[in-house]
Amino acid sequence: MEAFVSTGSSILRGRGGRPGICLSRRPSSRSLRVTVPMATVASNPNTESKFITEEIASKVISEVGSPTFVYDLKTLREQAEKALAFRNAYGLTVRYAMKACPNAAILKIFNDMGLAFDASSVYECQRLLLAGVPSIKVCLSSQELGDQFVDLVNKGVEINCCSLSQMRKYGQAFPNTEVGVRFNPGLGSGGTGKTNVGGTSASFGIWHELMNDVKSIAEEYGLKIVRIHTHIGSGSDPAVWARVVGLTLNLAKQLPDVATVDLGGGYKVGRMPGEVSTDLDIISAPVKEAFEQFAEETGRKLHLEIEPGTFLVANAGAMLCTAQDIVTTGAAGHDFIKLDIGMTEVLRPSLYGAEHPITVLPKDSRKEVEDANYVVVGHCCESGDLFTPASGDPETITERLMSKAQIGDYVVMDGVGAYCASMSAKNYNSFPEVPEVLVDESSQIHVIRKKQTLEQILENEVPLPDSF
Ligand SMILES: Cc1ncc(COP(=O)(O)O)c(C=O)c1O
Repeated sequence: MEAFVSTGSSILRGRGGRPGICLSRRPSSRSLRVTVPMATVASNPNTESKFITEEIASKVISEVGSPTFVYDLKTLREQAEKALAFRNAYGLTVRYAMKACPNAAILKIFNDMGLAFDASSVYECQRLLLAGVPSIKVCLSSQELGDQFVDLVNKGVEINCCSLSQMRKYGQAFPNTEVGVRFNPGLGSGGTGKTNVGGTSASFGIWHELMNDVKSIAEEYGLKIVRIHTHIGSGSDPAVWARVVGLTLNLAKQLPDVATVDLGGGYKVGRMPGEVSTDLDIISAPVKEAFEQFAEETGRKLHLEIEPGTFLVANAGAMLCTAQDIVTTGAAGHDFIKLDIGMTEVLRPSLYGAEHPITVLPKDSRKEVEDANYVVVGHCCESGDLFTPASGDPETITERLMSKAQIGDYVVMDGVGAYCASMSAKNYNSFPEVPEVLVDESSQIHVIRKKQTLEQILENEVPLPDSF
C-alpha cells in the first residue's frame, strides 16, 4: 500500500485493494438487512477501521442502527493492562479519568480490573458511586468544589484541592484531616492550546510559587497535605511531561507529609495514520528512577498515581454512522459528505481542529469504488460542524481523499472513545443523544446506552401558564 500523509492539509492518501462491504437496507428500519460479503471491512484509501469488522458493523446496524458509538472491550482491557504496567518504585494506583467516557459499563470494566478513578466534579463522584465503585477508589480534582463534597468525603472520597479557596473550604469542613493539593507546576503541554492546562495561561491547580500560602492555610486548619497532584494537559509532549515530573517532586520535597504523587494523565494517543502514541513503558522508566532518587535523598518512598483518560479509551471507541447526504459547491468548491452525526456527538474537530480517521463503507457491491476528495461535515446548522478541519485549526476546511461515497453508505469514524460521547454539543438542533454499544471478545453487542427520546430532551422544560 502506498501512502501520502500530509498532516498540514489533512489529506491522506494510500492505494490498495478494497475488499468491499455491502450494507443494504430493506424498506422498513425494523427489517434492516446487512449483507457484508467480503472478509473484512473495506480498507479505503486513507484509513481502515480499527476494530469495526464486517461482522460487527452488520450486527450494530441490524440490532441498534445508525448512528451508534461502538466500544471494543478487547482494546479497553489491553490499554488498561498497559497502564497497570506503568513502571514504579514504591507502588502504583491507576486512576481512570472518567471524564473521557463515563458510561457505567466502562466504569465497571475498569473497576473490575483494579483501576481507581479520577473525578472532575461532585457529580462525576456521585456517578461513580452509583455505578458501584467503592468510595475509597474515588479522588476528586475539580475546577468547582461543589458543596456536595462534604457528603462525599464523609463517604470516603478523597479530594485534591485545586485552589487556595478550595483549601479553605475543605479546611472549614474537615479541620485536622489529611488532604491532597493540585499544583500548577509552571509548565504545560497539550495537543492543542485548548488542552494545555499548565503554565501561566492555565487556571488549573495552585500556582507553584504560592507554596507559602499553601503551607499557611494548611497550618491554619490543621490540614496534613499527604498527596500532591499535577496534570499539565491532554496530548502532552512526553519531554515536557518528563520535566514536570521533576518539578512535581521538587514540590513534594517542600511538603514533608506528602506520601503520594499523582502525575495526572495526558498521554498522547495517535488516532490518525502516522500519529504516534506515547509508550508508557518508555516514559515510566525515568519516573521510577526519579522516585528512587527522591527516596535516596529524603528517605521518603512515594506512592505513584497516574490518571489516564484518553490513553485508556480513545482508540477503543468508533462511531458507526451514515452518509445521509452528499452536496457540491461546484468545480471551484468542494464535494461534501453530510453525516447523520455532528458536533452533537463528536465535538473535538470543531473545538480543537482534531482529526479522526473516517472510512466510507460502500453500501452496495461497488467493489471497485473510485477515490474522491470530500469535506466531511456534521448534521448541525453550523458551519463549524466540520469533521475535516485543517490539523489543529477548527476554522479551516480541508478535503480528504476517501472512497467515493453514495447517500446511504455507512461510515466509520475511529478514535472517538475519549471526549466524544462525554463532551459534545449535546441536543443542539434537538438531535437526540445516540446509543452506545460495547462489543465483547466474542463479538457480541451489548447496548450500554439507549438512544435518547425527544420526550427525554423535553422532560425538564416547564410550560408557561395559559394565562401568561
Ligand atoms: C485532572 C485530570 N486528570 C487526568 C485527565 C485525563 O487526561 P487525558 O484524557 O489526556 O489522559 C484530565 C483531563 O482533562 C484531567 O483534567
